[in-house]
Amino acid sequence: MDRIVRKIDGYSLTLARKLIEDGSLVAFPTETVYGLGANAYLDDAIKEIYNAKKRPLDNPLIVHIHKDFDLDGIVFDNDFAREIRKHNLPALTLVYKSKNTVSPYVSCGMETLAVRIPESEFAQQFLRFVDLPVAAPSANLSKHTSPVTAEHVYADFGESVPLILDGGRCDGGIESTVIDVTGDTPIILRKGLVTKSDIINIVGACEYASDDSTLNARSPGTKYRHYTPKIQTEFFDSNNLDGAVNLYLQLEKLGKRVCFMSDGAVAKKLDGYNVFDLGQSGVQMANRLYYMLHEAEKRYDVIIGISLSVDSDLVLSVNNRFLKAFAK
Ligand code: TXA
Ligand code: MG
Repeated sequence: MDRIVRKIDGYSLTLARKLIEDGSLVAFPTETVYGLGANAYLDDAIKEIYNAKKRPLDNPLIVHIHKDFDLDGIVFDNDFAREIRKHNLPALTLVYKSKNTVSPYVSCGMETLAVRIPESEFAQQFLRFVDLPVAAPSANLSKHTSPVTAEHVYADFGESVPLILDGGRCDGGIESTVIDVTGDTPIILRKGLVTKSDIINIVGACEYASDDSTLNARSPGTKYRHYTPKIQTEFFDSNNLDGAVNLYLQLEKLGKRVCFMSDGAVAKKLDGYNVFDLGQSGVQMANRLYYMLHEAEKRYDVIIGISLSVDSDLVLSVNNRFLKAFAK
């Protein structure tokens, strides 16, 4: 692990640049989750991402660039996007009409290209050093929980990724909001830390992609199973805590190591049991969700999720992942 996971310094960045130029994979931190990066200009490098992740071939990738990279070289920019970008929102990905200058495998042949300019200083340092568009999905095996530490990346890929840049734990904790800006109104394809009201405040309008068929066509990734821990999962409504506790006790009798996961209010009611408390605010829950799913996986055999009370757009974004993680 020592050879693969490296702190971000002049040496590791030089290594990263060489690997990306040569078409190899490099994992790197962003303010949301770790990405598994490859040179967006090279077909074989992009195919390697799909191979390594065992990712379905119709689920397009996000291209990451540094703040001074020539965006016009890869997409058709527009007024909405310019206005939104002025605000330097972290954890945001915009989908543009592509100029088809990057590998067609990045967008799986679609006419659009998703581009993210991460706010994280480590991500910017890496992208500036490389000075290429870097396509990167979250650095986890397809379907598994997304990684928020370098160790999580290593646990999924081991030695098959030659370099993991270690920037500590990602604060954001869930993936970027993906917004299509190719039409008359910005459309949210994937919910995240940037909310609908954030965008309405900037450009006066924003919608959620309405029905599942629109969403699947526009953002194929949303139709797949996601974020699933490797241990047994069970799920209960917070109205049925007695049922959840009964199951917990039954499983314990069978010799299983069991834990609960829910928001702060539910966690308080489960005092005395093993509980992962996601906290109360959307920001706190986002920061903890994947980290705690990884922790649960390391220490327990069964995790029982209890429904979250959704009282804001941000909690809605977290809940979207929470429900998928526990979906059967
Ligand atoms: O925070 C993030 O977004 C992380 C970090 C590494 O940047 N990346 C990430 O990538 O979550 P991934 O591959 O796990 O998810 C990318 C999402 C998928 O839902 C995919 O369908 C959507 O973005 N997407 C990518 N390109 C698209 C496009 N051209 N049009 C619509 N949706 C697109
Ligand atoms: Mg992902």
